[in-house]
Amino acid sequence: MRDVFLSLDSSSRSIGAREVEAALRAEQTRRNNFRLVLTGSRGAFFLEPLVEVEIDGARLGYANARAEDIAGLLDQGLLEGKDIQPFYIGKMSEIPFLRGQERITFRNCGVIEAGALDAYLKNDGGIALRRALFELDSPAIIAEVKRSGLRGRGGAAFPTGVKWQTVADTPADEKYVVANGDEGDPGTYADRMLMEGDPFALLEGMAICAKAVGAHKGFIYIRAEYPAARAMMKHAVETARDAGFLGDDLLRMGSGFAFDVEVRSGAGAYVCGEETALLESLEGKRGMVRPKPPYPAINGLFGRPTVINNVTTLATIPAILREGGDWYAARGVGRSKGTIAIQLAGSLRAPGLVEVPFGVTLREVINAYGGGLPEGRTLLAVQVGGPLGDLMTEDKLDVRIDFDAFTEIGSMLGHGGVVVYDDRTEPLQLAHRLMAYVARESCGKCAPCRLGSQRATEILDSIRKGAGKTGDLELIDDIAFAMRGSSLCALGAMAPTPVLSAIRLFPESFRKN
Ligand SMILES: Cc1cc2nc3c(=O)[nH]c(=O)nc-3n(C[C@H](O)[C@H](O)[C@H](O)COP(=O)(O)O)c2cc1C
Ligand code: SF4
Repeated sequence: MRDVFLSLDSSSRSIGAREVEAALRAEQTRRNNFRLVLTGSRGAFFLEPLVEVEIDGARLGYANARAEDIAGLLDQGLLEGKDIQPFYIGKMSEIPFLRGQERITFRNCGVIEAGALDAYLKNDGGIALRRALFELDSPAIIAEVKRSGLRGRGGAAFPTGVKWQTVADTPADEKYVVANGDEGDPGTYADRMLMEGDPFALLEGMAICAKAVGAHKGFIYIRAEYPAARAMMKHAVETARDAGFLGDDLLRMGSGFAFDVEVRSGAGAYVCGEETALLESLEGKRGMVRPKPPYPAINGLFGRPTVINNVTTLATIPAILREGGDWYAARGVGRSKGTIAIQLAGSLRAPGLVEVPFGVTLREVINAYGGGLPEGRTLLAVQVGGPLGDLMTEDKLDVRIDFDAFTEIGSMLGHGGVVVYDDRTEPLQLAHRLMAYVARESCGKCAPCRLGSQRATEILDSIRKGAGKTGDLELIDDIAFAMRGSSLCALGAMAPTPVLSAIRLFPESFRKN
């Protein structure tokens, strides 16, 4: 009996995968000659809904299949891997979008049954945790993570091994591991894809981290707008507990190490992704940023030493412990080691998630993987690293995907989100929208951010409406100076960046009055 795979994560569902699932189930009952396996997404969103069949170990794809196409596809020989046009795209491993990628963190996404522990274990899951529990002590785990050169994927690119070392070295009666799955940057979806497609990789990464720092309790904080990711993680936690993958005696093999995880829903605010606001929110308070220092590694959740890492950072740990830190560090450039999940969004022919080693250029990613802009459109700008990233025009696209190369040109790679704007975008409207977003999302703790973002939004709004005044842009400059210099967190400090870059790059758009 053949296995037929269907991607059923949020992105696939948004274009009809649920209906395709119902059609496949009906045909399965009628024909009884295939098994339906539900997976997460491979990140090739432009191919979804995507149905695959496995024949002699190779996966063959049928793209953009709708519910009404399913019976016909089966009648015409999908189970035999027939070339049925316009759906058939051949071997998945050979399609250009996937062929050039190096999937390490996202190796299971779209490949194995999502939320099935046996499928995870069959694909080398658990090897890293076994090594961490039975072969390595805490300093050896941390040394391996340091050797990998892994830097946090949540935005600040802080070295993960150094953070773990600080928590391990800080004495306390209790320590915590927190996975940051708030993923608020517009145009980013790596954490969601990971949690929906390969939840056990995150749990395994958290358990290894717990062993390394001496924590016995973990939390996964998931953005409120991600109900499917939350449901999948809750299911994975329960399954893992039943199987001894979490609990009092990890792996039930006499490890004597206890670790358990709780899934929590985010509070629906962008600022709750900032680590200290997240901790406040986890403690049941309003998500307000805490001054640093003290850092969470010393004084975190309930005042205890806490590792807070991004979901993608933690989900990369099993590969590092399984294959070795040196193996991981052999990829990448400079101080940006390994691979990064670039999330392509906006005006592109083939938006999706691409995992590549650091070092390729932004232009390559946009053109070779994203397919370039749609026919007849020209590039206005690219925004990388979320709503606080600057606008990059054509002349900057040859920058390497590398945390430090981006910093050198005054940009930031952040969580790896790339949003492409074309000639239909009005720079003034974009600047207004981005600043209005900050005004809405500011936690309000410090005046430059709370009032500055509000005032800058009003000024941009008045220019938009043709009521701009002489001196408006100078005033925005002054506000930006205050926000950059005296905001408590990066939300206020970096909010002026895209607006100032829009004014610098497209001054004519701001002369509306
Ligand atoms: C306004 C703001 C929002 C943030 N949102 C997120 C987020 O959604 N997810 C995330 O992992 N980190 C976010 N961060 C970064 C976190 O504060 C923190 O650096 C990160 O979770 C640490 O994990 P890492 O070392 O694995 O990157 C945000 C930071 C700021 C200033
Ligand atoms: S900069 Fe803005 S979001 Fe950050 S602490 Fe201050 S008011 Fe809150």
